[in-house]
This record gives sequence, C-alpha cells and structure tokens, in this order.
Amino acid sequence: MLAVTDLKKSFLAPDGERVDIVNVPAFALAAGEQVALRGESGSGKTTFLHLIAGILAADGGKVLLDGTEMTALGEARRDRLRAEKLGYIFQTFNLLQGYTVLENVVLGMSFGPRGADRAHAREMLERVGLGHRLDHFPAQLSTGQQQRVAVARALANRPKLVLADEPTGNLDRKHAGEALALIREVCREHGAALLLVSHDELVLGQFEGHRDFAEINQALKGVPR
Ligand SMILES: Nc1ncnc2c1ncn2[C@@H]1O[C@H](COP(=O)(O)OP(=O)(O)OP(=O)(O)O)[C@@H](O)[C@H]1O
Ligand SMILES: [Mg+2]
Repeated sequence: MLAVTDLKKSFLAPDGERVDIVNVPAFALAAGEQVALRGESGSGKTTFLHLIAGILAADGGKVLLDGTEMTALGEARRDRLRAEKLGYIFQTFNLLQGYTVLENVVLGMSFGPRGADRAHAREMLERVGLGHRLDHFPAQLSTGQQQRVAVARALANRPKLVLADEPTGNLDRKHAGEALALIREVCREHGAALLLVSHDELVLGQFEGHRDFAEINQALKGVPR
C-alpha cells in the first residue's frame, strides 16, 4: 500500500544552517496494516507525514502509494491521488473556518471517489459524537470537538491509507479512547492501512509492536532536537 525509499527533507534554520529533519531509507505498510510510530516533539513526525501525503515536496526519494509514485507526479495529479486514496488527520485540524461542521466533512468528500454524500457525512459525525453540532462553525467548537471533526472528515471518504498525526492530542481519556477505536474500526471495515504518529504512551500502548520513529528516521542519529 505504501512504500517509502530514501525519503529526505532538510530545512534552513533561521541562522542559515541547513538541518536534516527526515532521512528515511525504507518504510513500508501493507494493505490493512496498522502501525503507530513513537517520536518525541520536534523529531520530524509531521514533516514525514506531510512528505508521504505530498503536501510537502521531498528533497529526494520515493513515495509509492498503492502502486503510483506520488513523488513523480505534478501538483494537480498528486492532489487528485491524495483526494482519492488518502485520509489525513492533521495535527492542527485544518478545518475550513467559513463552513459548518457538516459542510467541512461534505466538502472533504466532494473531492474524493464517493463524492459529496451528506447522509454519510452526518453518520460519520454522529460516530464521533458530534451529531448535535452539525451546524456549528469550527470557531464555535471546543478544540477536542474540532479534532473529532478532523477525524470524521479524514475517514468519510473510505481512504485506502489513513495518516493520523497525534489524532487524540486534544482529547480527554474517554474521547481519546473512543476516537482511536473509531479510527481503527473504520480502517478495518474498509481494509485501509493506518499510519499513526504520537508521543502519547496511552495511544501507543494500544498498538502491538509500535515502533520508534528514531529507528526509521536516520536524521535523528546523534542529533539533539
Ligand atoms: N518550514 C520549516 N522551516 C524550518 N524548520 C522546520 C520547518 N518545519 C519544521 N521544521 C523543523 O523540523 C523539525 C521537526 O518538525 P515536525 O513538525 O516534523 O516535528 P514533530 O515530530 O511533528 O513534533 P511535534 O510532536 O511537536 O508535533 C523541528 O525541529 C522544526 O523546527
Ligand atoms: Mg507534529
């Protein structure tokens, strides 16, 4: 489903020094596989997920998504592939502020293979416990509620791969447990692969054989962050 080879990204620090943030020689996920990566703050987790999704251009390397080389595509085809195959739960949610909760999920679906399906969008929002907040705008929600909208939006398209960036970081234990269970359940229902990154031991503990991001990301070798 996902194969990453020699994926690299560096950033220019304010002092002009170039800092290697991601250097992943090899990482792969099989269809339906669920993997959690543990990494401390600043270790490059979000950057890694942005590179996989093609939101950020890599300096080098390959991302193969369901047989298509994402990294070889132009922006328009990459956007289309992302909308078709990928569900992304952003660490910072990225909800559209001018649209209601329901509209956010429906709009997310409209670019995907299923098209806008209000009934399904509503069902997903009910599953994250927001059936009573459909007409609210993001700014009228608590942070944890916004996070749950982001979860519903990412899963509504039945993507083949779900990337989850600290998807329960703003939720209390009860809602975190429920959101995580929902993410895993929906992925299982559709045979989707799940890649989750987190520094929350409670979340990581739910995944048998979670891995340390430092084992995968060679840029972390011996560099303080
Ligand atoms: N646009 C950028 N320009 C310069 N440096 C950047 C940029 N984006 C990220 N970085 C640096 O890359 C490093 C990794 O950032 P990233 O957001 O990937 O970390 P993270 O593991 O997701 O952390 P957290 O757990 O806090 O979300 C940080 O040291 C950050 O300062
Ligand atoms: Mg991050």
